[in-house]
Amino acid sequence: LAAHFTAKRLQGQHLLVTAGPTFEAIDPVRGITNLSSGKMGFAIARAAREAGAEVTLVAGPVHLATPRGVTRIDVQSARQMQEAVQSRLADASIFIATAAVADWRPAEFADQKIKKDGSGEVPAMAFVENPDILAAVASSEPARSGKLYCVGFAAESHDLLKHASAKRLRKGVPLLVGNIGPATFGKDDNALLLIDAGGSKELPHASKDVLARQLVEEIAQRLALSHL
Ligand code: CTP
Ligand code: CA
Repeated sequence: LAAHFTAKRLQGQHLLVTAGPTFEAIDPVRGITNLSSGKMGFAIARAAREAGAEVTLVAGPVHLATPRGVTRIDVQSARQMQEAVQSRLADASIFIATAAVADWRPAEFADQKIKKDGSGEVPAMAFVENPDILAAVASSEPARSGKLYCVGFAAESHDLLKHASAKRLRKGVPLLVGNIGPATFGKDDNALLLIDAGGSKELPHASKDVLARQLVEEIAQRLALSHL
């Protein structure tokens, strides 16, 4: 019954969500990535769909089934993720960035597999910074005029409240969600710290599916308030 009560809280909204890691190619057979599983982003996509939203999920390389009723766009690199996000932004009313976007990519892509030359020397590798997808979306016109509600996530190893509060301001988002607890990557459960202009609030330890539903409800409440 409770589920039915809150079931259509995002009716009429269009959610765009990023999830998973990105993969930054070095050569045709290698690249750099990270251990993000995409589970939190996929759980949010599912919960938002169940709450009545139209949902577009931009996913890096993950091993997860597409939630029912969700439109999925698969990408590999941060730049592809940014392009996919930009191409769907016009329709969106909520943007949630859960992706663990690689901060840097190799400065150059080698067309052919890099081979050992037998000398024992290791290749030197230069990196360049990837675009900050969330920061770009949060500073876009629809976000600044209040037509697009932006939510960021933060992975911090220490001083979560301090770093995540600073990150919220730096990214220019109304709501920043911190992962509580050391290693959340790949796990089925988590605990979240929600930080907005009014302060912070904890969503205690639970499965990512439960947390996703709670987060959807928190976002629905904030959207309802902003339209009063
Ligand atoms: N993010 C993004 N594009 C990037 C980097 C991060 O969209 N190139 C988003 C993430 O999806 C997340 C938020 O920004 O919602 C914070 O990501 P995080 O990695 O915690 O922060 P960074 O700004 O990259 O800083 P750092 O990794 O140094 O803590
Ligand atoms: Ca980062």
